[in-house]
Amino acid sequence: MTEKINQVRVAFDNELSGAVTGDELEQVRVKFLSRNGAIAQLFEEMKSVPAAEKPVLGKLLNTLKNAAQGAFDERKKTLSQSKEQRTRSIDLTLPGRPKPIGTKHPLTQTMDEIKKIFMTMGFSVATGPEIETDYYNFGALNFPPEHPARDMQDTFFIAKDILLRTHTSPVQIRTMEQQRPPVREIMPGRVYRNEAVSARSLVSFHQIEGLYVDRGVTFSDLKGTLVAFAHQFYGKDVKFKFRPTFFPFTEPSADMYISCFLCKGEGCRMCKFVGWLEIMGSGMVHPHVLQNVGYDPEVFTGFAFGMGIERIACLRYGVDDLRLFYENDVRFLQQF
Ligand code: DAH
Repeated sequence: MTEKINQVRVAFDNELSGAVTGDELEQVRVKFLSRNGAIAQLFEEMKSVPAAEKPVLGKLLNTLKNAAQGAFDERKKTLSQSKEQRTRSIDLTLPGRPKPIGTKHPLTQTMDEIKKIFMTMGFSVATGPEIETDYYNFGALNFPPEHPARDMQDTFFIAKDILLRTHTSPVQIRTMEQQRPPVREIMPGRVYRNEAVSARSLVSFHQIEGLYVDRGVTFSDLKGTLVAFAHQFYGKDVKFKFRPTFFPFTEPSADMYISCFLCKGEGCRMCKFVGWLEIMGSGMVHPHVLQNVGYDPEVFTGFAFGMGIERIACLRYGVDDLRLFYENDVRFLQQF
């Protein structure tokens, strides 16, 4: 019996020192210390031991039982402490894990910069809805009904007389309806056209519109403002020219060109070898448009302009496919 007690002690000591997880510790408890464990078994066997041996063996067994329980409790305590330490310890000397920081989308950057330049010239920002009525998108802007000028822009119709705006010009009408001159606003926003998607055209893109109406605004105000913008945005030494064109809502109308900033007017792929880049449409607000919003064209005159943001961003960053702006490929976006 003494032999057996010693065997159990050795086995217990071995297994306890080998237990490192909570599960393993529990296995040791069940095997040795539970109601049917090895030590309880020894007490069971004591019953059949001759009475003379009982005092000595009983003492031996009790010592084992108490020592085993004590050692077990101790082990359990140290294991749970070291676990706590593991979770609590942070190595402050390790280098940090960098988190990539996003940047503004190149179109937003372009838009912000254009806005900033006009805001320093006294323009404020106005916006309007992307779902428009035929009246605001065309009628009020002097596009006559059934006039081929409407074909200049392929329109997405939602219902009869309701459409996705094809340009930001309707915001001119909404702005003028809401205030009296002087009106000095820029109007950025998304526009839609029913065109086949390619490197050069998209179904949805952005424009920035400008409008200045007051007493005595002249074509030289238009030129002065747009040239000041071009010098700030494209650089002091770009040359510029205005070429007559047609828009229903302006008269006279002019497209603004700047000398190609890549080849300085020599001719290259960017300017299609003509040395000039068209950057926006502009003109003096048509008297019909002023009448449509209740302004007296005998008292007030104004100029307006509109430019495509994607086109300007393409020129600026040398991007030759408009679709890149919408694919959100991080490798593309990270370059800006
Ligand atoms: N709305 C014209 C377009 O989408 C651009 C434009 C041209 C706007 C001349 C203007 C302007 O305000 O005066 O092509």
